Amino acid sequence: QKLIAEELPGTQVIAVSNREPYIHNKTEDGASLQIPASGLVTALEPVMRACGGTWIAHGSGTADRETVDSDDRIPVPPDEPSYTLRRVWLTEEEQDGYYYGMANEGLWPLCHISFVRPSFRESNWSIYQQVNERFADAVAAEARAPDPIVLVQDYHFATLPAMIRKRLPRATIITFWHIPWPNSETFGICPWREEIIRGLLGSSILGFHTRFHCNNFLETVDRFIESRIDRENASVTLEEHESLIRPYPISIDWPPAAMKGQKPVEDCRRIVRERLGIGQNTRIAIGVERFDYTKGVLDRMHAVDDFLTRHPEWIGRFVLVQVAAPTRTKLESYRRLQEEAIELAGLINEKHGDGSYQPIMLIIRHHEPREVFELFRGADICVVSSLHDGMNLVAKEFVAARDDDQGVLILSQFAGASRELAAALLINPYDSYGTAEIFQQALTMPEEQQRERMQLMRAQVRERNVYRWAAQMLVDASRLRNHQRILDLA
Ligand code: F6P
Repeated sequence: QKLIAEELPGTQVIAVSNREPYIHNKTEDGASLQIPASGLVTALEPVMRACGGTWIAHGSGTADRETVDSDDRIPVPPDEPSYTLRRVWLTEEEQDGYYYGMANEGLWPLCHISFVRPSFRESNWSIYQQVNERFADAVAAEARAPDPIVLVQDYHFATLPAMIRKRLPRATIITFWHIPWPNSETFGICPWREEIIRGLLGSSILGFHTRFHCNNFLETVDRFIESRIDRENASVTLEEHESLIRPYPISIDWPPAAMKGQKPVEDCRRIVRERLGIGQNTRIAIGVERFDYTKGVLDRMHAVDDFLTRHPEWIGRFVLVQVAAPTRTKLESYRRLQEEAIELAGLINEKHGDGSYQPIMLIIRHHEPREVFELFRGADICVVSSLHDGMNLVAKEFVAARDDDQGVLILSQFAGASRELAAALLINPYDSYGTAEIFQQALTMPEEQQRERMQLMRAQVRERNVYRWAAQMLVDASRLRNHQRILDLA
C-alpha cells in the first residue's frame, strides 16, 4: 500500500471498468448496498482505496438511476470515503449490445475457449464501440491534467485505449485483460480482430495474468497486424506508438477485509453446519462462483457422483455445498446452465441421498464477502474446477481465509492461479474419475500435510498480494511516464 502511495505523488489515477464496486438497489425502506461478485472488483477496490482518484463504471443498481444525471459522482467507500465513483448510465439497448452481446456472447466465450460458440453481431459491435466512446468521453472529462494514469479494465473495453489516446495523447494508459487471451487461431475467428488489437495497442502497457497469455497476444498481433514486435522486450510498436506487453498476476488484499471480525475456525465449522442443517461430523467441500459455464460447476457435480459411486463409505458423511451467484441471466447460455445444474444436483441427490441426506446442496443467491469467508472457514475442502480461467481469486480467498493452516484446495490446472498455487491438489476438470480420486485424497489428507501445503500457499498469496499486482503496474507506468517527460523536455 505504501509503495503505491509513494509511486504516485500528485498523479491522478482514473480507473475504468464495466462493473461498479458498490451497487445501490431500491428496497422498501430506501436503498441497500451490494458488493458485486467480481474478481475484478475484489482486486481493484483495495488498490483504489490506496491510490485515491476516480473509478468510472457502468451504473447498475436500481436505486440511484432516477435521481442522478450522467455526471453522477459519489465519494466511496460509504464508510470511509477515499476515492470517487463516477457512474456512466447505459440505456437498455446499450447494455444489450455492448455488455450482453459483444462482451459476453462474443469476447467471453471466444477468449475462454469454452465450447460455447461465440456469437458476433454487427449491431452489437457497433454499440460496443459507441459505449467505449462514451467511457472515453468520461475519462477525458475527469482528467485534470493532460497526463493522468488511466487503468482500463477488461474485455468490455478493447477499443477504449486507442480512443483515450486520441483524446489524451500524453496519458499513461495501463490496460488489464482479466480473462485469458487464446491462441491466434482461436482469436482469429473474431470478425473485428484487427480493430480489437489496434484498440488495445493504444495502451502504454497491456497486462495479462500470465506470460502464456502475453505470448498468445504477441502471436495474434504478429499474425494479423502490420507492426514491429520486439520479442525480447515483449513490446509492439504500431504507428510510432510502443505498447509493453506484461504479465501481472492479479491477487487479493492481505489480510482480506472480509477476515475482520471472523470467529475462530471451530466456531465457523459449527455455525455453518447448523445453518445449513448438515451434521456436525459431515465433511464439507465448498464451491463458490458466479453461475458461469466456464467455472466447471456441472463437471464438479459429475465428479461427486463418481466419487460417491467409487467410495460409498462417504455417503452420508460428505456434502458439496455449491454457492452460485446468478449472473448474466439475460443470456440463454447462462439460464440453461442454471437449469442443468439444478437438474443434475437433483439426479445425484436422488441417486446417493435419502430423506435426510443430500450430497449436493446448491444455494443459488449472491453472498457478501463476509459470508463467503465464513463458509471457507467452516469447510474442509474448497473446489475450483474452472474449465479455463484467467486467474481465479476464489482459490486465493480460500487460502487467505484459513489462518488455521488447515483445509485442502482442489484447483483446476486450467486456472491461472494453478501456476502460483502449486501446493494445491491440481485437477483436470474434464477428467471426472481423476477428480473423484482427488476428493478421496483430500478427505484423507493428514493434518500435517494440509498444514505444509496451506502454509506454502498462504506465503505465496501474502507475498504476491494485490498491492504487489498494482504496485508492479504502477511502477512500470511511472517509469514510462518519467521517460516521456524527459523526451518532452528535449
Ligand atoms: O473475469 C473477468 C471478470 O470481469 C471478473 O473480474 C469477474 O469475476 C467477472 O468477469 C465479472 O462479471 P460481470 O461483471 O459480468 O458480473
